[in-house]
Amino acid sequence: MKETMETEKKNNYPEESLVRLNKFLANNSGFARRKLDEFITQGRVTVNRKVITEQGVQINPLVDDIRLDGERIKEKTRKYYIMLNKPKGIITSTDDEKNRTTVLDLINIKDRLFPIGRLDYETTGLLLLTNDGDFANKLMHPKHKITKTYIVKLSKPLEERHKANLMAGIKLEGKKTAPCKITFPFKDDFETVSISIIEGRNRQVRKMFEYYGYFVHKLHRSGYGHLSLGKLNPGEWTKLSIEEVNKFFK
Ligand code: URA
Repeated sequence: MKETMETEKKNNYPEESLVRLNKFLANNSGFARRKLDEFITQGRVTVNRKVITEQGVQINPLVDDIRLDGERIKEKTRKYYIMLNKPKGIITSTDDEKNRTTVLDLINIKDRLFPIGRLDYETTGLLLLTNDGDFANKLMHPKHKITKTYIVKLSKPLEERHKANLMAGIKLEGKKTAPCKITFPFKDDFETVSISIIEGRNRQVRKMFEYYGYFVHKLHRSGYGHLSLGKLNPGEWTKLSIEEVNKFFK
């Protein structure tokens, strides 16, 4: 943005403190970058009280006043990367119109966190939460092909032919599922399976098994990329280390 660049020079702020407006907002507002681009086009964002509708504008978080719907967005210095063992009967949402407990109610951090992807109300297990929009976008982007592993309790033993077809990919809602891995983690138990998928379509695991007439009694996410729950009990959470965060993109 021209004005900002001029302010920059006047105040002698280093060039590296400039950041793209949508990136700044994604890091500090909790909304995804694509959504924020829409907000910018809709004229909901101001820089130094001026409505900005063009994309690609650069701002300086040290000096510029950035607002979304009139509300000041301040730069967050602290980034949180949280792994939660989600209990059953909790919704993966930032707020709920029915006032049910959300995953955020389990975490006593004041900053605005948001879940990376979602687990169904009945699903338990590994859920990541962050306030770093860039990190969340990267993790959810299909090009990174991050493996999510689920332990599934089925209503009947999984037949070999169904297992083979599910692993190769089936057509769900008009689109073929990507190849996945299915194993039996417990000896002589063919009703409990471990499934590792790289996609994250809505209720995907349930729908895949329902396709062949299996009902999913229990669904638990045990792994996300290189992460596993370890000793975390339901409802407990831990902060990821920087190494654990960075390992996703190595
Ligand atoms: N697949 C599902 O069907 N449900 C989940 O919660 C996660 C993956």
